[in-house]
Amino acid sequence: MGIILHQFKLHNIAIEVVDSKQEMGIRAAEIIANKIIKKPNIVLGLSTGSTPVPVYSELISYYSDGVISFKDVKTFNLDEYYPIDPSNSQSYQYTMRRDLFSHIDIPIENIHFPDCLSHSPVEASLNYEVLIEKSGGIDLLLGGIGHNTHIAFNEPPAQSDSRTRLIELSDETRRINSRFFETIEKVPKYAITMGLGTILDAKEIILCAFGAAKSEAIYQALFEKPNPNVPGAYLQNHQNCRFILDQAAASKIL
Ligand code: PGA
Repeated sequence: MGIILHQFKLHNIAIEVVDSKQEMGIRAAEIIANKIIKKPNIVLGLSTGSTPVPVYSELISYYSDGVISFKDVKTFNLDEYYPIDPSNSQSYQYTMRRDLFSHIDIPIENIHFPDCLSHSPVEASLNYEVLIEKSGGIDLLLGGIGHNTHIAFNEPPAQSDSRTRLIELSDETRRINSRFFETIEKVPKYAITMGLGTILDAKEIILCAFGAAKSEAIYQALFEKPNPNVPGAYLQNHQNCRFILDQAAASKIL
């Protein structure tokens, strides 16, 4: 069980501070595993990047230990580069297979990403919204936060009622994500992302963050007035949102 060092509420957000990124993974996975036990056909919203990796490792352990099964779980990833081939090792589909899906028993047809090979990103985005709705909506969404408080690829300025759509990545995001690519030129310029409205429609949200580099974004998400320039601050309006932070990410709010 994850050890929580500080626990408090700001706005509607339940904040839990743990010791390390490993503890962050343990705590978030514990919550998600319990939800899967309670609702085996849960619909999850999942993110990529470095933040959720420790959560996925723990979920894989729950699965290998026979505690949970993903055979009825459905997943919708928050975003994907556009255009990108799913076999490209930088695609989010590839990293999700590497970090989670290939280690668990989720049926391939239960895994969803925006269609980033579609000739029409508009149609691909609309289809994604329809699929989410048909699945009954997202029960639990696991997200991270960017340095500019973007959630998924909702770069500032981002409207709180935005839906899944094609967006142009900011120079800052491309620079930060270039660590996964050979050169910055190879970082795609576009992505299809769930909108803030799509994300805020999730019945429950867990936002994880670790490391001092995220402390300012966490501060802004919790203390700035929600506005398009601070997309993360719109989480203050959600009724069932939890932040799980390591001490470094929480350093400006403690
Ligand atoms: P990270 O990215 O998990 O790689 O830090 C989070 C984000 O940019 O949303």
